[in-house]
Amino acid sequence: MTAPPNIERVLFTEDQVAARIHEVAAEISEKYRGRDLKLVAVLKGAVFFLTELARAVEIPVKIDFLAISSFGSGAPGMVRIAKDLDEPIQDEDVLLIEDIVDTGFTTRFLLQTLAGRGPRSIGICTLLDRTVRRIVQVPVDFRCFEIPDRFVVGCGLDYKQLYRNLGYIAVMHPDKS
Ligand code: IMP
Ligand code: MG
Repeated sequence: MTAPPNIERVLFTEDQVAARIHEVAAEISEKYRGRDLKLVAVLKGAVFFLTELARAVEIPVKIDFLAISSFGSGAPGMVRIAKDLDEPIQDEDVLLIEDIVDTGFTTRFLLQTLAGRGPRSIGICTLLDRTVRRIVQVPVDFRCFEIPDRFVVGCGLDYKQLYRNLGYIAVMHPDKS
């Protein structure tokens, strides 16, 4: 798509993103070979990453989705499940697919929620990791890129629901658009 206004710089090009997703997919294939893996993606941001990752993984996988929404005044970590998974995850190897782990609140909530359903194992795989802003610790098993403390869009990440369909990841000034 056409570059949005207020793009400051491209952090990772489309080719770099694709190459890195293939590397991470190879790690996942290696770790879960011989097991039944279910990829659980968080709507909407992680969908773009999920489809690219799932095609690059060399083992058969199941997929399922959930959606969350913030409630209350938007205090950090105040999230609830807005759309739940379609199927149970009991005794399954589950990999939670995230677009970004930032403060960690969302991921920790999801991890605790899913862990309570008796999966055989549960891991976290994120496209982007911004560890400098972490408030609660979460065990990230697979990460494509570590990013600096700047707002980014593209590859599923939005600004006011826009720019998810950018093929690359870019830093933008959200305040000046
Ligand atoms: P956390 O609970 O602070 O880890 O927030 C994670 C959520 O905030 C992500 O799933 C994104 O929806 C959103 N988010 C955090 N940083 C960015 C960013 O730089 N661009 C777009 N969305 C972001
Ligand atoms: Mg968002």
